[in-house]
Amino acid sequence: MTVRDAVGAALDALAAAGCETPRLDAEILIADALRVDRGALLADPDMAVPGSAARLIGERVRRRVAREPVAYILGRKGFRRIELLVDRRVLIPRPETELLVEVALELPVGADVHDVGTGSGAVALALRDERPDLVVHASDASSPAVEVARMNAARLSLPLDVRVARGLAPGSPGMVLANLPYVREDEWASLQPEILRYEPREALVGGVDGLDAIRELVGGAPSGTRMALEHAPGQAKAVRELLHESETRRDLAGHERVTLGLVR
Ligand SMILES: C[S@@+](CC[C@H](N)C(=O)[O-])C[C@H]1O[C@@H](n2cnc3c(N)ncnc32)[C@H](O)[C@@H]1O
Repeated sequence: MTVRDAVGAALDALAAAGCETPRLDAEILIADALRVDRGALLADPDMAVPGSAARLIGERVRRRVAREPVAYILGRKGFRRIELLVDRRVLIPRPETELLVEVALELPVGADVHDVGTGSGAVALALRDERPDLVVHASDASSPAVEVARMNAARLSLPLDVRVARGLAPGSPGMVLANLPYVREDEWASLQPEILRYEPREALVGGVDGLDAIRELVGGAPSGTRMALEHAPGQAKAVRELLHESETRRDLAGHERVTLGLVR
C-alpha cells in the first residue's frame, strides 16, 4: 500500500462517517503513524506504507469513524507554544481559550494568577511557559483532571501547584482565570458526536443557563478579586452583570468570549 492509497481510503471512510475535515484528519493520523510531517505525504504519495503502520492507520481510522476526536486518538493537543497530553479525563483545549492566556500576559511582572478548572493544565502551563515571572496556581474539581495536569507539568518541566478544589481554592491570591463549564443543559444533546460521546460532560455542562459553575466561583470569591471568565458569546451580558467594572473581550472569530471584572 502507498501513502496515496492510505489517504484515499481514509478520506472516503471519514467523509462517509460525517467528519467535518476528513482530508485533514486522514493526513494527520497517517503522517503521525508514519512519523513524518504532513508535507512529506504530499511530497511523496508513492511512499510505501509498511505493514505495522498500515495496521496502526486502520485502527486509528476506525476510531475516527466512530467520531473519536483526533486529539484523543493521538493523545496530544497543541495549545499556544506547548503540547499537552490529553485523554478522556480532560477537555481538549480549544483555540478560543488562548484569549484567557493573552489577558494574563498583560499582568505586571511577578503577579499571582490562579487557573480555576484547569483541566489538562492548558492555561496555567501556557502561562508558566510564556511568563516564567508569574506565580501560577491551578485547581480543578476533578481529581482525574488534576492527575493529567500534573502529568503535563512534569512532562513539560514546568513546575505547577495543582490542587483538587471546587470553585476558588482557599487562600488563592491574585487574579483568577477560569474556563469553567458553560454549555446549557438543553444544548448538550445537540453537540457534535466528538463532544457528546467522548468529552467529559462535567467539564462542559453548567446547568440550565450554563452559568452554574461561574456563579459558584464568583459567589465564593472574596470581594475585590479580579477575574477573567471564559463564556459563550450569548452569555457575555449575564457574566458582565455578575461582576463589577466589567468588560468583555472578543476572540479571533470576533465573538464575545472573555469577561474581566471584579467580584463585588
Ligand atoms: C471547560 S473545561 C476547561 C479545562 C481547561 N481550563 C481548558 O481550557 O482546556 C472545565 C474544567 O472545569 C472543571 N470544573 C467543573 N466545575 C468546576 C468547579 N465548580 N470548580 C472547579 N473546577 C470545575 C472541570 O473538571 C473541567 O476540567
